Parts: sequence; C-alpha cells; structure tokens
Amino acid sequence: MSSIAVLGCMWGDEAKAKIVDYLGITADVVVRFQGGANAGHTIHHGGRKYVFHLVPSGILNPDTICVIGAGVVIDPRALENEMEQLRGQGVEISHRLLIDERCGLVLALHQDLDRRAEHAKGEQKIGTTLRGIGPAYSDLTARVALRIGDLKHPEWTRQRLAQLYDYHGQAVSTGELESVATSLFESWQRLSDFVTTVDDKLYDWYLQDKRILFEGAQGTLLDLSYGTYPFVTSSHTSVGGIPVGCGLPLRCINKVIGVYKAYSTRVGDGPFPTELTDAVGDRIRKQGNEYGSTTGRPRRCGWFDAVAAKYTARINGVDTLAVTLLDVLSGLESVKICTGYWVDNQRLDYFPSDLHLLPQLQTEYLTLKGWEQDLGECRGLHQLPRAAKDYLEAIQDLLERPVELISVGRDRDQTIVVRS
Ligand code: IMP
Repeated sequence: MSSIAVLGCMWGDEAKAKIVDYLGITADVVVRFQGGANAGHTIHHGGRKYVFHLVPSGILNPDTICVIGAGVVIDPRALENEMEQLRGQGVEISHRLLIDERCGLVLALHQDLDRRAEHAKGEQKIGTTLRGIGPAYSDLTARVALRIGDLKHPEWTRQRLAQLYDYHGQAVSTGELESVATSLFESWQRLSDFVTTVDDKLYDWYLQDKRILFEGAQGTLLDLSYGTYPFVTSSHTSVGGIPVGCGLPLRCINKVIGVYKAYSTRVGDGPFPTELTDAVGDRIRKQGNEYGSTTGRPRRCGWFDAVAAKYTARINGVDTLAVTLLDVLSGLESVKICTGYWVDNQRLDYFPSDLHLLPQLQTEYLTLKGWEQDLGECRGLHQLPRAAKDYLEAIQDLLERPVELISVGRDRDQTIVVRS
C-alpha cells in the first residue's frame, strides 16, 4: 500500500501533524493539497517545537520530499518566513520542497478583504484566521487571481495585478502597484528554485511505488461543501480535495486514516452540538492547551460527537481511525460520547446540513466511566486502563471502523499502534 491520506475529520486541530510526523518516518513524499497559511500544524520533536503553516510537516524527516500541490494558496511572505524559521532550526529545505506553479497567491489585498468582510458581517462573522484565505480562493474561482508561476512573467504579473485591484474596486496609484509587484518579484527570486509542476512527479513516484502521504489541513466539518456552511473554510478539506489539489488521480489514494480528537474542539464561530461551556470544557481546554496555533484564540471544547464523526468517516471513506489527545481526558470522573440528536421530540441519527437546525439540536450521550491514570507513558494498548480501552472501543463500534493509532502525548514516541 503506497499512498495514505491523513485527514482531519472534525473542525480542524485534530493533531494531524503529529500523525503525519509519526507516519512520515516511513514516507518518501508528503503532500499538502489544500488550504494555506490558515493551517497551524505543531510538532514537538527532540525537545523542540516546530509550527507549520504551509510547508508539509514531513520536512522534519531528512529523506522525505515535501510537495505543495496546486490546491494550496500561498502567501509568499508567510512561506518565506516559515522557511527561514525552519532553516534557523536546522531543517534543510533545499531540494526537498516542491511547489506547484499553479498555486494561487494570497496577497495583502486578500487579507485586507478578509478583515473587511468579517467586519461587515458583524455578529454573523465566520471567525476566520484573517489570513486572506476566502478572498484568495474566491479570486481563483472568479478567474482573476495570480498564480505563483505567473511571477516568471513580470509584464503579465503587472497587468494581472492592475486588473485584480480594479476588479475589487480598489483605487491604487501606479507607484503602489509597482511596490506590490516588486515585493512579489523579490519573493520569486528566493522561491523560484522550488516552483515546478508536481502532478507529473507525483504520478511517477506513485508508479515507482514510493510511499506518498497526503496531509490534510483543517477538517471535514470545515469543508466548503460538506462542512457547516457558511462557517467553513474556502477549500475542500475532505478526501475529494486530494486529486483536485495535487493532480494525482483518485484511484491513487490507497488508504484513508481519519484523525479524530478524543473530544471535540472548534475555533471560530458556527454550530457545535456537543460544546461544553462549563467547568469540564474549561478543564479540557487547559489540559489540552486548546489555543489556536495560528491565531492563539481559545478553542471551544466539547464531547466526542459520534454522529458527526460517522458522517465525516463516510464522506472521506475512512479506513482506520487515529484517536489523538486521549491523555487529555485523564482525571475526569466520567466521559461522554454523543450518539444521537433530538429535535422537536424526534431523534436524528445523522449530521444535518441545515444550518438553522444545527443550533437547535439536543444531544443524547453514552456515558462511560473515566480514568485517573496519566497515559503519557503508555506505549501499548495493554498499558491503557480498562476505562480508556472501553472508551476507544465505543468510538470504534459507533464509527464502525478500527482504531489504528492512539496518541497519548505530543512527542512522536507517545503513540500507540494498534495491531489488528
Ligand atoms: P479561514 O480558513 O481563515 O477562512 O477561516 C474559516 C474558518 O475555518 C474559521 O472558523 C477558522 O477558525 C477555521 N479554520 C481555518 N483554519 C483552521 C485550522 O487550521 N484549524 C482550525 N480551524 C481553522
């Protein structure tokens, strides 16, 4: 089995990077296929903390090639900063990072538009990361965007840039426009060695049976089509985003690992049926250090939602589950899993797409015994307390998929592999 997708299956922040990093030890290639610098993937390794926004987290493995597919939108300044930071931490990037020349560009203009759109929405704001992601994808769809490969052609870039400001009704002087163009050309000088086409290379590597890992960003409930629209991001975070976002045919995805936190979190606004606004929610936030790695915002916390989780497992064709942050639940007297919703005395066993219905849902829970033991030292399933195993078994039964990986801490070795 040569290619595996690792997908966040809730509202993002499922600790996908930890799983990618763990699996990346044996991967030849790691591919990002959607999103942009809105993502914040954190890895703790060798006593150091690494935060990734655009660079695939596989870069920490010196033999792994990292690919940014066409479905990713790139803010050149953010990418350069990240590369600089990684180099400062001793990570060698040259010859190991490939960027598709079709990637759309995120400009300061997009961040400005993002801020203004959020402000205009007032109480109905989405709570975006303000990284310009939505406006950059909108421009791609409207066919007015600039792509990174355009920077090869200065005159064309200048023309497209002028048209883009015009399209957004932004009056800019020739001098201002030239200063934006100059900064892009300077970025191009530093990034051009990494820019190429990646679809052809990925296909060759697939045929050569190289081990390819697809690293999802955000989560399925933030997917543009299948998430809690409009409280979503602007890309396809689910499995369908992979072929579109890197040019490798659908049939080249051999396995899908769905990453789920042992509880649920959401950052930003929008419906969240199992949200806990009490002391238990606060406790989980504190224990799990649930603060956004891109924006630092406190994340909303809640119980594991098996109804939503089963929905996303189906959407993605999830084969096996990776359950992360199980250690965070230690010390709770009881733990709960949402098994159904109720609305107007009717039981729903599916995740509704109707935004107006979602906030009205009453949640039905399966309550299980909690466990006291700190799980950080557990390295095998047999070392977990009975109650933690029961909890995992309940998730497995409700989602009708086996748990393959369990994360019990932020370090790479704090991972349990469940052998079937
Ligand atoms: P945007 O992607 O910045 O447009 O934000 C849209 C929604 O997705 C907001 O609710 C964000 O908080 C959320 N979001 C975007 N990126 C991430 C992420 O990496 N983790 C969790 N939530 C995210």
